[in-house]
Amino acid sequence: MKIIDAVRSRRSVRTFSGEPLKKEDIDQISDFAREAANPYNLPIDWMFFNTKESGLSTPVIVGEDTYIAGKMLRAEHAEEAFGYSFERIVLFAETIGIGTTWIAGTMDRSSFEKAVSLAENEVMPCVSPLGYPAKKMSVRETVMRKGVKAEFRFDFSDIFFDGSFDAPLKSESAGKWQTALEAVRLAPSAVNKQPWRVAVCDNCVHFYEKRSKARAEGEWDIQKIDMGIALCHFELVAAECGLNVSFCIEDPGLPVGENTVYIASYKLND
Ligand SMILES: Cc1cc2nc3c(=O)[nH]c(=O)nc-3n(C[C@H](O)[C@H](O)[C@H](O)COP(=O)(O)O)c2cc1C
Repeated sequence: MKIIDAVRSRRSVRTFSGEPLKKEDIDQISDFAREAANPYNLPIDWMFFNTKESGLSTPVIVGEDTYIAGKMLRAEHAEEAFGYSFERIVLFAETIGIGTTWIAGTMDRSSFEKAVSLAENEVMPCVSPLGYPAKKMSVRETVMRKGVKAEFRFDFSDIFFDGSFDAPLKSESAGKWQTALEAVRLAPSAVNKQPWRVAVCDNCVHFYEKRSKARAEGEWDIQKIDMGIALCHFELVAAECGLNVSFCIEDPGLPVGENTVYIASYKLND
């Protein structure tokens, strides 16, 4: 399965079949997770908890077999790094028929943090259930999807820009970047806020975060996890489209709107 197809077919799965995960599937995911690096080169420890053995559960999710949780040292860019690596695992799971849901809020944090033996200098930003999706969504899942308008995504030209933030970029004018940007547009985000804003300047693509609320410098920012997800979708799909891009953090200094901050860029190599 191509990554762009996994991006298109993925959705949060909150109703699972109750069938235990096959050993080979869990092994594949844990092997993949061990190698799921991120452009910030920050290591993340991935752990798997069978629901029956661990007693872990979260509200809304039913029929799940396992939880995956990741922990890492507190560090600058931890959020983006976590978003990037976890989304790689999410997309891989999709390619082998395993459902996931990013969970940062709807869980009893203390029981998960205890399960991963979280230390003072570590963070465990999110967890996800793993399992085979049920044929039909539960009523609670349907209500939840309506509540966060889960099917909604901004239009291409609302979030992508041509050289400056006052020049919207249309999908049909995005040329070689079209598919990779479409993959960004379709990404999952916390409460489906879709904070990514992207300016394309010739052979550079600059990613910005439009924050839902003002934050102090250095404050933990869940929307930076969303930004890591966006970077992941962009880089993987750009590579799949044959574009040789490299990651960098070099703020081009474009004028930006309120609560909009620079995150990172990709440059096209010759
Ligand atoms: C960082 C992050 C945190 C999230 N936290 C939760 C959560 O706590 N509970 C939940 O049910 N969904 C959570 N979600 C899932 C989003 O609500 C979901 O991705 C969004 O509504 C889009 O729907 P889709 O994933 O089906 O495309 C989270 C997503 C992200 C990216």
